Amino acid sequence: MHEHSVLFVDDEVNILKALQRLLRSEPMNVLTASRPGEALELLEREQVEVVVTDQRMPEMSGVDLLSTVRERHPDTLRMMLTGYTEMNVAVEAINRGEIFRLITKPWQDDELKATLRQAFDHYDLKREIKRLNQVTREQNFKLQDMNKNLEAKVRDRTRQLADKNQELRTGYVQTVRALAEAIDAKDRYTRGHSERVGVYASRIARRMGLRREMIERVYIAGLLHDVGKIGVPDAIITKPDRLSPQEYEEVKKHPEIGARILEPVEFLREVVPCVRHHHEWFDGSAAGYPQRLCGDDIPLPSRVILVADTIEAMTSNRPYRNALPIDVVVRELHKYSGSQFDPKIVEAFLALLDEEGDEFIQTHEKFDIYAFL
Ligand SMILES: [Fe+2]
Repeated sequence: MHEHSVLFVDDEVNILKALQRLLRSEPMNVLTASRPGEALELLEREQVEVVVTDQRMPEMSGVDLLSTVRERHPDTLRMMLTGYTEMNVAVEAINRGEIFRLITKPWQDDELKATLRQAFDHYDLKREIKRLNQVTREQNFKLQDMNKNLEAKVRDRTRQLADKNQELRTGYVQTVRALAEAIDAKDRYTRGHSERVGVYASRIARRMGLRREMIERVYIAGLLHDVGKIGVPDAIITKPDRLSPQEYEEVKKHPEIGARILEPVEFLREVVPCVRHHHEWFDGSAAGYPQRLCGDDIPLPSRVILVADTIEAMTSNRPYRNALPIDVVVRELHKYSGSQFDPKIVEAFLALLDEEGDEFIQTHEKFDIYAFL
C-alpha cells in the first residue's frame, strides 16, 4: 500500500510540533517546514501528495506559496490552515492556489484528520483517472495500428484473389481459343475465322461503349459461335458448291448443337444464349434461326457477332470467290441494317471503320482480350 505524505508549512514551530503529535499514529508520513523556501526545496526531493500551509509567514505568504506549488507540482493537493479568515485571503487562495480546503485555526482534531483522509482519497482518485486515460489512449493507438494492418491485409488478399481469378479466366480463354481453332481447322477456308470474329466483335462492342464484362462475353461468344458445326457432317461444312435445302437444314442446327455443347460449362453460362441466337434476324424474319427472335429479345452479343461474322466471311477467300473489298461489305451492311442487322451495331462498325480504317480487318496479330480490355 502506498504511504501518503503531507507537508505542513508554518513559521510557528509549536504548531508544527502539535500537528506531528496529533498525526503520529495515523497511516501517513508527516513532513514539516518552518519557511516557504524550505518547503519548496523539500517538494523537489520528496513525493508529497498534500501541502498544508499557514497564510502569514515572514518571507512569503501562504497564497504565494500555494500558487508556486500549483505551477511546479500541479498534482499535489493544496490546503490552507490559517487563523486569519478574511474574505480576501480565502478568495485569493481559491483563485490563485486552487486549494482543496480551507481550515481555520484552532482546528478540530477529528475534522483535520478526516479532511486529510479525504484529500488523500481525492489524490488517489485523480491519479487513477489519469492512469486509466493513459491506458485508454495507448489502447486506442494500438487499435488504430491493428486496424491499419487489417486493412492492408484485406487489400492484399483481395488483390491476390483478383490475380488468381484473372489467371483462371485467361486459362479458360486459352482453352476456348484452342477449341475454336480446332473447329475452324476442319476447313482450310475458315482457318482463324472464329478468332477473327471474336476480335471484330470485341472492337465493335468497345466502340458501342459496352462494359468490360460484356465485351469479354462478346469475345468468348465470338470464339465459340460456330462450335456446333462439330455436329454437322464434314461433307456439308466443306462442300464448295451451293447447299441443297436438306443440307442447309443440317447447317441450321449448328447454333442449337453449340449451345447444348456449352451448357454444362459453368464458366460459359452467359455465353450459351449468345451462341444459340447468333443467326437470328433483327426484324424477326423467317430467315433467322433457331427461334425467330426479334430486336432486343436477341442477346446483344449475338447481334454483334452476326455483324462481325458477316464482315469476316465477306472479307475472306472462299472456294467459289475471292475476298470482297470493304466497300462491298459496307453496302451489304447498309442494305440489311434494320432487317438482318441491328442498326446501332452497323453504325458502331461504320464509325470504327471511319476512325481506324479497315486495317484491323487485315492484320492477324495475336490478340489478347485482357490487354485489349
Ligand atoms: Fe454460325
